[in-house]
Amino acid sequence: MRILFADSYEDMSLEAAKLVAAEAWHNPQSIFGFATGDTPIGMYQCLVEIHQHFGIDFSQATSFNLDEYVGLAPDNPQSYHAFMQNHFFQYMNFRRECIHVPNGLAENIPEECAQYDKTIREAGGIDLQILGIGRNAHIGFNEPADGFTRGTHEVILKSSTIQANARFFSSVEDVPRRAISMGIGAIMQAKRIVLLASGSEKAEAVYKAVHGLVSSQAPASVLQFHPAVTLIVDKAAGAKLQ
Ligand code: GLP
Repeated sequence: MRILFADSYEDMSLEAAKLVAAEAWHNPQSIFGFATGDTPIGMYQCLVEIHQHFGIDFSQATSFNLDEYVGLAPDNPQSYHAFMQNHFFQYMNFRRECIHVPNGLAENIPEECAQYDKTIREAGGIDLQILGIGRNAHIGFNEPADGFTRGTHEVILKSSTIQANARFFSSVEDVPRRAISMGIGAIMQAKRIVLLASGSEKAEAVYKAVHGLVSSQAPASVLQFHPAVTLIVDKAAGAKLQ
């Protein structure tokens, strides 16, 4: 795992955006895996600026988001569809039909999950996957569990994740209890992975991801088995790294 120690959140965001921009420049038909949460917002802002100032083109690129809450419509402001639209896609030139986010309103969730995996496979797999990390070391919504789940699947969120994500909702009761998440399989099959972490509350999870025993109880630790991961941490998130 290659580790970049960034001086600040802004520095982390810019370094990550440069990797995405380089991928798009190198291969305009890249397949990106994108993440939500506070962590990648700065990266999306930098990418919007890079796109607007340098004209890097995403019109032939494809994106797959990691996850979505079950029960939230795409136009619900708390949905990950809306998050991506508001922070990123509205400013970029991805083609609408090349943007993929799991459908949290699907009537048949197993079918939606299978279809999501099939669409990723048919696109040729992910070239560059962006990941954040949860405080319990979850990636996407792959929560600590007795085993790794390979495919896209429905997840019952852990109460610690519900608490952590309550800041995006008016109350903790409003946080959906279930989500659809890409599995560890598609994430691990990505050609390259960029893992981002910022802030002291992520330091323990980052430590587990890099130096911990590889275990489905700390899902990010599986990244130790991937050949091309770049971890970008600010000083606080990287504080426990050797
Ligand atoms: C959510 C998302 C994850 C994200 C994590 C951390 O649970 N499903 O993809 O990495 O939160 O979010 P944040 O960056 O806001 O700390």
